[in-house]
Amino acid sequence: MSPKTAQELALPVGVTLDRFIMASQSSYPYATGELSQLLRDIALAGKIISREINRAGLVDIAGGNGTENVQGENQQKLDIVANIRFIRALKNGGEVCAILSEEDEDIIHTGNDHGKYVVAMDPLDGSSNIDVNVSIGTIFSIYRRVTPVNGPASTKDFLQGGRKQVAAGYILYGSSTMLVYSTGEGVNGFTYDHSLGEFILSHKHISSPSEGKIYSVNEGHYNGYPSFVQNYITFCKDNGYSARYIGSLVGDFHRNLLKGGIYLYPSTVKDPKGKLRLLYECYPLAFIAEKSGGKASDGFGPVLDIIPTSFHQRSPLYVGSGSMVDQVVKA
Ligand code: AHG
Ligand code: MN
Ligand code: MN
Repeated sequence: MSPKTAQELALPVGVTLDRFIMASQSSYPYATGELSQLLRDIALAGKIISREINRAGLVDIAGGNGTENVQGENQQKLDIVANIRFIRALKNGGEVCAILSEEDEDIIHTGNDHGKYVVAMDPLDGSSNIDVNVSIGTIFSIYRRVTPVNGPASTKDFLQGGRKQVAAGYILYGSSTMLVYSTGEGVNGFTYDHSLGEFILSHKHISSPSEGKIYSVNEGHYNGYPSFVQNYITFCKDNGYSARYIGSLVGDFHRNLLKGGIYLYPSTVKDPKGKLRLLYECYPLAFIAEKSGGKASDGFGPVLDIIPTSFHQRSPLYVGSGSMVDQVVKA
């Protein structure tokens, strides 16, 4: 065996998130660095939550808390922990004037009225999977505020519509922890290296395959789905597609983004608007889908075109590979 070269013995670790953010910022001559700082704050909160999740089986942090959130859903302890961690990181970071969280009815004013941005987030997504050591995630959506700086943020900062997002993304706490985000040009993914405490660029310019053979849907609700969804599911079965459903939107979305596939959370007879929340689940993932070449529909048109009316409104979601989304909505 020939000896390794010096280069081979000490391969570069790759591009850190910080360096990537700085390099991207320098291509915008008027960028002030505030959005960059905000992304770093989100990454920091993600690292802390990743640490908490990894210890969940050892400390009394898994399981239900005996409380309900604004949606009337049982809160897991980690839902509460993740919510606090994110709010604290964004308050301390100073760039965000207000936050909308799945866990709180009203917007949270950070006290940073000079901040130019607002963030809508699902601090912990897929929380029913915490107890059983299955992948979960965080979803975030960033807007530039429309209310004047140095005054309080208001409802209209959050109800601008999905097309006004300046950045969006998610953190996946899976077999490794990953941050995937877009500031509007391209989608990039970073894998967390625990030993370095850094996110390293691992998935450059993610491009959604236009076709796929995976469908992700809760078939337990099949009988309540509209006929176009039932027809599409039958088509998938007849054509040898694989069903893959974690029950963590971030995990299901991420798999389909890399491999090609579609995630469906339809309306049902019982829940005509489906389950997922528009502002901090559907919009940010629709943004990532479109920026990577995929699509997101509510069954009638692009999710990003929906005009929002309230903080916690719900929407059906069909998201993933472009031609699969096209097919389901006309099936
Ligand atoms: P959350 O944990 O934030 O309430 O969201 C869970 C969501 C989503 O992650 C997942 O895809 C979906 O709920 C699963 O719902 P079903 O159990 O109805 O399939
Ligand atoms: Mn969620
Ligand atoms: Mn949640």
